[in-house]
Amino acid sequence: MSSTLFRTKNVEQSILDTEEPEHALKKSLSALDLTVFGVGVIIGTGIFVLTGTVAKNDAGPSVALSFVVSGVVCALAALCYAEFASTVPVAGSAYTFSYASLGELPAWIIGWDLVLEFALGTAVVAVGWSGYIASLLENAGWQVPEAIGTRGGADGFGFDIFAAALVLVLTAILVVGMKLSARVTSVVVAIKVTVVLVVIIAGIFFINSDNYSPFIPESKPQEAGRSLDSPLIQLMFGWAPADFGVMGIFTAASVVFFAYIGFDVVATAAEETKNPQRDMPRGILGSLIICTTLYVAVSIVVTGMQHYSELSVDAPLADAFKAVGHPWFAGFISFGAAVGLTTVCMILLLGQTRVFFAMSRDGLLPRFFSRVHPRFRTPHRPTILLGVIIAIVAGFTPLEELAALVNIGTLFAFVLVAISVIILRRTRPDLPRAFRTPWVPVLPIVSVLASLWLMLNLPAETWVRFAIWMAIGVVVYFLYGRSHSRLGRHEETTTDEVKGQPRGQGG
Ligand code: ALA
Repeated sequence: MSSTLFRTKNVEQSILDTEEPEHALKKSLSALDLTVFGVGVIIGTGIFVLTGTVAKNDAGPSVALSFVVSGVVCALAALCYAEFASTVPVAGSAYTFSYASLGELPAWIIGWDLVLEFALGTAVVAVGWSGYIASLLENAGWQVPEAIGTRGGADGFGFDIFAAALVLVLTAILVVGMKLSARVTSVVVAIKVTVVLVVIIAGIFFINSDNYSPFIPESKPQEAGRSLDSPLIQLMFGWAPADFGVMGIFTAASVVFFAYIGFDVVATAAEETKNPQRDMPRGILGSLIICTTLYVAVSIVVTGMQHYSELSVDAPLADAFKAVGHPWFAGFISFGAAVGLTTVCMILLLGQTRVFFAMSRDGLLPRFFSRVHPRFRTPHRPTILLGVIIAIVAGFTPLEELAALVNIGTLFAFVLVAISVIILRRTRPDLPRAFRTPWVPVLPIVSVLASLWLMLNLPAETWVRFAIWMAIGVVVYFLYGRSHSRLGRHEETTTDEVKGQPRGQGG
């Protein structure tokens, strides 16, 4: 049995599958499209919302260091992702990579994990977007009723109608086609980057250097009764749970990690890239470098404009300008944030449907989902199904805990990808690799350890939720995926033919 659980999908077969006409996606993206795509999804709720929360609760001005820590973890993972994406240019990202190297069960686990990352990530960003829209409407004098606004769910029944509507509209755009979405994306990315640059450049003039002292606030014991939301590492070693201090930098890093999620989504578009061997590494690393630089600059500026204890947790970038007496900047920033979050949401949704599509094409999920639309050539079925589910989740669910769950899922995927790089180098040294991860196996091993370190800094309760989600995934695999796997059926056919009893082709 273990041999079937670890059966691997041959890399050439993965590439060949993409050429079956009714399951093929259009190849239209360039390196620039990918970088725009990357920046489009990376800059979002993380920098616009979470910076304030973690500076206030965990790290103070040293949140800038947290962004550096997270950026390094992501850069290590990106170097592994880039090798895989340039070797196996097939929709499905880490899922496909691990199918080619680790085997079917690990691939299933990672695919299931990516569903969590992208679906909940989309929901988190949609709710963040809705908050900014509500704040803009308030500026214009219209108070959004509690029951249909973001905050309604906290004290009673509420459905965030803006978040749900955003997800549904984006779903429709994705069904109609990639080309349209890429074009819309580039305009929106330009607006978003302008807003971030305005925050940095205008903000520099309002920095009060007193706000940087202390740069790393002293460690403070947590109130009693919060043990499950303490970082797992503190519970594991029996340390008294504390906020701030040096450990606070890492706690904050594990949260602001959300701000980087998305560069891996670039890898999910490999199959739709004109020259993936050359463009994919450029797209992934390029977008990551741009974002890290902007994040560090923004967090230094914002914590310099306002004392960290006074930062707002809902709209910290905009409110810092209000605090220094420039409300019209705040309005401009809120508008840009709302526009920018739209693309983040759209690209996460896209990544989600592509992973689902790849899993279905392999028969691990029903094949019904991988027929592309005859005219639009998009995987319309998973797009619609998941779009509706995510819209409902986004309408009902509060965000913070979801963000932590998204982070743990993504970090886990990084761990598996890094391991896959090492394994595939040994099992398939012959494969042409347009981009080679440097210093293998040392770099991938450091990447695994770095990702695990951030995971351990997430709350214990996040680990519990993650374990439950993964357990459900394993059950689904054994009840459906294992017996319907196209690879498994193909292997059975081949074995039967060898025995002289040919059977029909599976799939
Ligand atoms: N990195 C994206 C964000 O911060 C997901 O919203």
